[in-house]
Amino acid sequence: MSQDFLVARNDLTQTTMMDLAPPAPGIGEVVIRVERFAVTANNITYGVAGDMIGYWNFFPAPESWGRIPVWGIGTVTHSEHPEVVAGERYYGYFPMSQTLLVKPEKVSLRGFTDASSHRTSLPVVYNQYSCVSQDNGFPSGLDNHAMLYRPLFTTSFVLDDYFAEHQFFGAGTIVLASASSKTAFGLAFQMQARKEVRVVGLTSAANKEFVEMTGLYDQVLTYDEVERLALTPTAYVDMSGNREVLSRVHHHLKEQLVNSCGVGITHWTTRDTQEVGVLPGAKPEMFFAPSQIVKRTEALGPGAYQQQIQVATQRFMAQVDRWVQINEQGFSHVKAVYDIVLNGARPDQGYVVVNDA
Ligand SMILES: NC(=O)c1ccc[n+]([C@@H]2O[C@H](COP(=O)([O-])OP(=O)(O)OC[C@H]3O[C@@H](n4cnc5c(N)ncnc54)[C@H](OP(=O)(O)O)[C@@H]3O)[C@@H](O)[C@H]2O)c1
Repeated sequence: MSQDFLVARNDLTQTTMMDLAPPAPGIGEVVIRVERFAVTANNITYGVAGDMIGYWNFFPAPESWGRIPVWGIGTVTHSEHPEVVAGERYYGYFPMSQTLLVKPEKVSLRGFTDASSHRTSLPVVYNQYSCVSQDNGFPSGLDNHAMLYRPLFTTSFVLDDYFAEHQFFGAGTIVLASASSKTAFGLAFQMQARKEVRVVGLTSAANKEFVEMTGLYDQVLTYDEVERLALTPTAYVDMSGNREVLSRVHHHLKEQLVNSCGVGITHWTTRDTQEVGVLPGAKPEMFFAPSQIVKRTEALGPGAYQQQIQVATQRFMAQVDRWVQINEQGFSHVKAVYDIVLNGARPDQGYVVVNDA
């Protein structure tokens, strides 16, 4: 049997495990055994924004249930595709399940795209599967790092590149909310290296020590201390999605707030609060990394942009073990891992689920 971890689409605290017969591939299809995957707040956000952005559509589930996408690595166990061979390993988007059926197209030495009909209207970045090999940017022994950090750090890189492209919108200070998240401190890592702006981290009291310990921020404030932000031209990059904090940042900085960039919703339990209405300062806008990747890839050429991302990712991965320890758990613990991350995991722990069945 193959197990699927499902969450209730309208209440992410409700979960269940479903046993399925392993999928049988038709002509042109391939079965991948999901080997391992990482779980972070990013995956919870896929659930929170599931209906808005279409994250539930990647991996169909029985009515009212959803399969939250995760970044993982799998091995082909059965192939009915002439160019995809059993035993090959791929990195990409998987459900929290033990197997996945895909329909490869555009197969190359680098990987393939899943052309399953339910995925064709979804952002292409999420439909690509990359061969796990040294030549393809996956150093051996770093599978867990690839799953845990590649997708998040790619966003950090792309955000830094976006702000630099726009001369930081005139800001001398960038404030990052949910500063303890991997996406945020990856961005602080990039911006610190640039030395062009001051980077301020906003975090919860419980995570302040961790954020300070990284040494990546020029200043660290808790959410209670928003009103201590200096009144100088500032951009706000928000991984938290906390509307009360957003409102206080705007009302405190007013016209000094030159850019307000919504990136994440780590504080998903606060989303019941009312919409904030019209705020002083720059109008809040959502940032969607896949769109920016497509735009920059077109501008710079596919090889060039990917190469820049790869070099920066390797630089980040060489440092990140100083701050975060990777914690592996067997598939039978998938609910426990999900619950830890849903409720806010310690920032110095990264979770990987291993399909040990
Ligand atoms: N727009 C895009 O294209 C894009 C791309 C990648 C990631 N993102 C978003 O960036 C965000 C960060 O993702 P990540 O995977 O890097 O996160 P992560 O490393 O798992 O971050 C965890 C941090 O989020 C906060 N948090 C998590 N759960 C919480 C809870 N239940 N209650 C309160 N705070 C909680 C805490 O930070 P604090 O205490 O510091 O607040 C915690 O340390 C996600 O929302 C993700 O979707 C967006």
